[in-house]
Amino acid sequence: MTQLGQSTPVGVQEEREMAQASATLSFQKALGWLPTIRTGMDVRQDESVTSQVKTRAPAAAVAPAVTFDVTELNMFYGNMQALKNVNIQIYDRRITAIIGPSGCGKSTFLRCFNRMNDLVPGARVEGKILFRGQDLYAPNVDPVAVRKTVGMVFQKPNPFPKSIYANVAYGARINDIQGDMDEIVERALAQAELWDEVKDKLRQSGLALSGGQQQRLCIARALAAQPNVILMDEPCASLDPIATLRIEELMRDLQQDFTIVIVTHNMQQAARVSDFTAMMMITEKEEGRRTGTVIEYGETRQLFTKPRDQRTEDYITGRFG
Ligand SMILES: Nc1ncnc2c1ncn2[C@@H]1O[C@H](COP(=O)(O)OP(=O)(O)O)[C@@H](O)[C@H]1O
Ligand SMILES: [Mg+2]
Repeated sequence: MTQLGQSTPVGVQEEREMAQASATLSFQKALGWLPTIRTGMDVRQDESVTSQVKTRAPAAAVAPAVTFDVTELNMFYGNMQALKNVNIQIYDRRITAIIGPSGCGKSTFLRCFNRMNDLVPGARVEGKILFRGQDLYAPNVDPVAVRKTVGMVFQKPNPFPKSIYANVAYGARINDIQGDMDEIVERALAQAELWDEVKDKLRQSGLALSGGQQQRLCIARALAAQPNVILMDEPCASLDPIATLRIEELMRDLQQDFTIVIVTHNMQQAARVSDFTAMMMITEKEEGRRTGTVIEYGETRQLFTKPRDQRTEDYITGRFG
């Protein structure tokens, strides 16, 4: 099965997509940036009308604003249903981890947040995802513009075969970020905690960096576009433990300014780095078909210490998957 971001050179694909974007109204403008922010409290009223109780985090003293509000999400590849009845809220400037066994739909779900599944022929989404109160899949919303606002970092670092500087500047240019490019590049590299390591070799190829540095370069490229959200699909899967810790620390810093959703198969990583965790499982399986859903969602500490669902407990204690 082809998986976006693995078998396809995503950089090239992105580039193609981005090129189509130049004439479109930016997503920010289309949305007006005056979101109706719903808190956990408001959502409670919705439960009676959804067929499934919204798997949401328990109300904190001050409920964080909601970045994505997912209701009855179903996602299909052709006639195979990959996701079923997902109901979840992703919170503003928090780190949300998506965990679960291989093939349960984690990457598929993540790609729903920036409409990257639109690039897969035959892929179809039903249900609703509100992004800051606005329907992400409304007909007037341009998916290319969405991908600029909701950035993505992939499992395998994918710098372009260009200089470090050009990689980061690309991120800014595709989103029409105005200003002094040297400053923009420096700021993004500093935000990605890479500046000190590369400031004297900005003209060298991004591909000459170590794996961990390449991944931070890709994060810098994403940051240069000034997104609101960063999606990360197993960003440390190809990195050694030290480079992994570096990325985890970086995520913690970035979380002050960005909403981060991370897919990870590393449960220790989810426990270390995230505020909220969504546990996914394959719930229906027959010949060549598997459908996944979020079976439990909550504050990370609670989910890892007192899971409500037996299947979560089995998974996190290593008895499953
Ligand atoms: N581009 C695609 N086209 C068709 N099926 C896909 C595609 N990507 C993933 N799938 C299928 O969707 C299911 C979920 O896959 P995925 O989201 O990659 O799971 P995970 O990230 O949890 O390992 C799997 O059965 C997979 O084969
Ligand atoms: Mg995956």
